[in-house]
Amino acid sequence: MSPLWGWALIWVGTIWMIPVKTEKREPIGQNLIILLIDGYGAALLNRTKPEALIGMQALSENGVQAEYLRSVFPTHSWPNWMSLVTGLYTENHRFTADYMWSNEKDVGFQRGTGPNDTDDLWWQDLPTPLWYTAGRKNIDVNCYWFAHCHRGFGDLLVLVPPKRHIDLSNPDQTTDLGEQFPEIVKKIFKIQPYKQQLFLLRYSKLATAIETHGYGSDEVEEAISRIDLHIHDLQKQLDEQGLFASTNLIVLSDHGLGQVNEEEQYFLEECLADYSKVQRIVNSHGMVMVFTDPEDEDTIFYELKVCDQWAPTGDYDDTEAPPVSVYRAADIPESLRWADSRFMSPIVLITKPGTTIVSRELPSLPVEVSTTVKAVGGWEPESNDMRGIFLARGPAFKTNEKYGPIDMVDVYQVALNILGIEPPHAHNGTWSQVESMLTEGWEERPNSENLNSSTPTSAHLLFIFSLFLCLMRNR
Ligand SMILES: *[C@@H]1O[C@H](CO)[C@@H](O)[C@H](O)[C@H]1NC(C)=O
Ligand SMILES: *[C@@H]1O[C@H](CO)[C@@H](O)[C@H](O)[C@H]1NC(C)=O
Ligand SMILES: *[C@@H]1O[C@H](CO)[C@@H](O)[C@H](O)[C@H]1NC(C)=O
Ligand SMILES: *[C@@H]1O[C@H](CO)[C@@H](O)[C@H](O)[C@H]1NC(C)=O
Repeated sequence: MSPLWGWALIWVGTIWMIPVKTEKREPIGQNLIILLIDGYGAALLNRTKPEALIGMQALSENGVQAEYLRSVFPTHSWPNWMSLVTGLYTENHRFTADYMWSNEKDVGFQRGTGPNDTDDLWWQDLPTPLWYTAGRKNIDVNCYWFAHCHRGFGDLLVLVPPKRHIDLSNPDQTTDLGEQFPEIVKKIFKIQPYKQQLFLLRYSKLATAIETHGYGSDEVEEAISRIDLHIHDLQKQLDEQGLFASTNLIVLSDHGLGQVNEEEQYFLEECLADYSKVQRIVNSHGMVMVFTDPEDEDTIFYELKVCDQWAPTGDYDDTEAPPVSVYRAADIPESLRWADSRFMSPIVLITKPGTTIVSRELPSLPVEVSTTVKAVGGWEPESNDMRGIFLARGPAFKTNEKYGPIDMVDVYQVALNILGIEPPHAHNGTWSQVESMLTEGWEERPNSENLNSSTPTSAHLLFIFSLFLCLMRNR
């Protein structure tokens, strides 16, 4: 055993020697559980029958619900996860898309599943994530299959047991979500008099069902019921221990998923005279980045721009969005808040919802592009199916109130306010958009209205123990 581990376990041990039972002590602050459900769209929630939404209803009646959550572009997982934990738009946190390509280094990022995805190249110089900021303020951070929470950032490492490191190549990874609840509830109950608790949980089974089987399938209905049952169970267990007096639960999604229209699936190579002029296409379906040599850029751009496959037909109505918009990097609409991201390609294609672009012949990332996936993300955040969900309950939130839409970048400031931490960097959240969701008392906690920068004092290695209970049990 390394000395670090020895130190770590001694530290854990001392925490556990605190006599918990002698007297009932008050929590030292509010706790926060964020449950992120991949691919749960507001439109899907809206059209699901109430019988399948017992847990969601309890959440909404005892808390707040936004009409929808406006994701950031592209409506992929990684950009939205990073916006959630930094409060910044994609071009400001700069985690560009689920797949990224460094032309310079000739390596790719593949949703965290590729052989080179742990390279510093992708991770350096990013803004501080929520788990770092919370950890620095001595809040216990606990991650379950959540982004790259386990990756050291600056001088801090959130210890996450390997089986809880995110693995997007394993569609069943989050199946056991419900089995974690007793441990989560027990931990909050025991530790809250000494340390505030932050839990970051992710659930992916609903997205997998929608992508594989499509809307309207039995599998998706089942998946909706299953996550609803989890949401119900978690609330029940928190309630039984009286934890809703101190603990907030936010349930949200990264973005919705839109049905793929098989009639409007185009193969990119069919636009091109010479395939070799394309170095690589990165991402697929709703948004595709096209890398070329500078001397071939004009040719490729022109061929894509006038491509027969998606050219307007005779009855074309020019008030309608074209099925495929072809942009040079410099002309990407500013409204997407994306153009200034890293690893951008000289040409980008963005399709209208339903329309997709794939390839069989061109060098691609991902290497295998699915032509049979039933639903995808990637389209513009304001399109109906891309809108996500946001519901929350707990001492920080009003009860039984409905609100208009909020933005993904708004959630970060809410999380920090609940935890009583000042945002360490300027962010894109709009406080007036969320303020009315909160109960009195938020003004006493640090919040974005009096944004102030706090710099870490010393650079010592700090360990956060995500799992006292688990470590102790395994000893
Ligand atoms: C939910 O459905 C109703 C009725 O179909 C519609 O009026 C409303 O705009 C929908 N809301 C959302 C968030 O999609
Ligand atoms: C990973 O990096 C190695 C070494 O730089 C390179 O040979 C390989 O092609 C890369 N693979 C991907 C998928 O980026
Ligand atoms: C988002 O926040 C960053 C950092 O403060 C800022 O540079 C950027 O201009 C903001 N973007 C928008 C659209 O407000
Ligand atoms: C920000 O921090 C500085 C230095 O700590 C302090 O003087 C100032 O009052 C703070 N501003 C606000 C709005 O809290």
